[in-house]
Amino acid sequence: MKRIAVVTGGASGIGKAIARRLAEDGFHAVILDRNAEQLKSVVNLYRGAGLDVEGRELDLTDATAVRRLVEDLPSVDALVNNAGLFDERGFFDADPQDFRRMYEINLVAVATLTQAVAAGMRPGGKVVNIASRAYLGARNHIHYVASKAALVGYTRACAMELGPRGILVNAVAPGLIDTPMLRALDPERMAAQLALQPTGRAGRPEDIANAVSFLADPKMEFITGQVIFVDGGKSLGGSGA
Ligand SMILES: NC(=O)c1ccc[n+]([C@@H]2O[C@H](COP(=O)([O-])OP(=O)(O)OC[C@H]3O[C@@H](n4cnc5c(N)ncnc54)[C@H](O)[C@@H]3O)[C@@H](O)[C@H]2O)c1
Repeated sequence: MKRIAVVTGGASGIGKAIARRLAEDGFHAVILDRNAEQLKSVVNLYRGAGLDVEGRELDLTDATAVRRLVEDLPSVDALVNNAGLFDERGFFDADPQDFRRMYEINLVAVATLTQAVAAGMRPGGKVVNIASRAYLGARNHIHYVASKAALVGYTRACAMELGPRGILVNAVAPGLIDTPMLRALDPERMAAQLALQPTGRAGRPEDIANAVSFLADPKMEFITGQVIFVDGGKSLGGSGA
């Protein structure tokens, strides 16, 4: 029977590359996204290339719809929680609603979907959460940084909870990756951020897809609760001088 992978936010950027890579790896890839138009075009593109993908339009913050969708799916072998939001807020501008908005998709939606999927997952199942290097600390998006730090805590706790069931849970922490999301960054700050990256350039969505492919692989049997930084070395810190 074909292995099933679910990729959230797969209609754009990093998720789009992950869905492609997992389909190339031999999974039937189910892409969940709320952007119906982009979802349709990605599914058509990939099917046209002979890849085994399907799309389901869904707002991941709608817990009832998420649970209903999971009931409709066969047992999932790999779940990739990638959908997320990003925007900038000055420290004194971020209000409670900004924090709620970020937590709703970057943490609460992940917890809802993972709980529903893990209930029917067989031993050998994998969960990969897309966090961010920014969880270590970054300026001007404190609501995002905090939500991604929460996601890392969730990943570690989840690895402990699901380990006895044979399910491995890890996170990938991207640095700056060239996607539509990145364009929300102020261009001057982006240039300054890139200068801090030892490799001096933004990553590609495929760089993240490579790491996810490794973590979702059935042969990967003994890594759990870890965060893999795919950030061109930015997490090394220092000025590079
Ligand atoms: N691009 C970067 O530099 C970068 C860096 C670090 C971490 N990340 C993380 O990688 C992930 C993907 O980012 P990206 O750059 O590809 O973003 P993107 O904006 O290109 O794509 C995000 C996708 O998620 C979907 N989505 C958002 N909210 C949703 C919801 N409620 N329900 C269903 N779908 C929803 C969007 O429709 C979109 O297709 C995010 O979690 C992001 O925080 C990105």
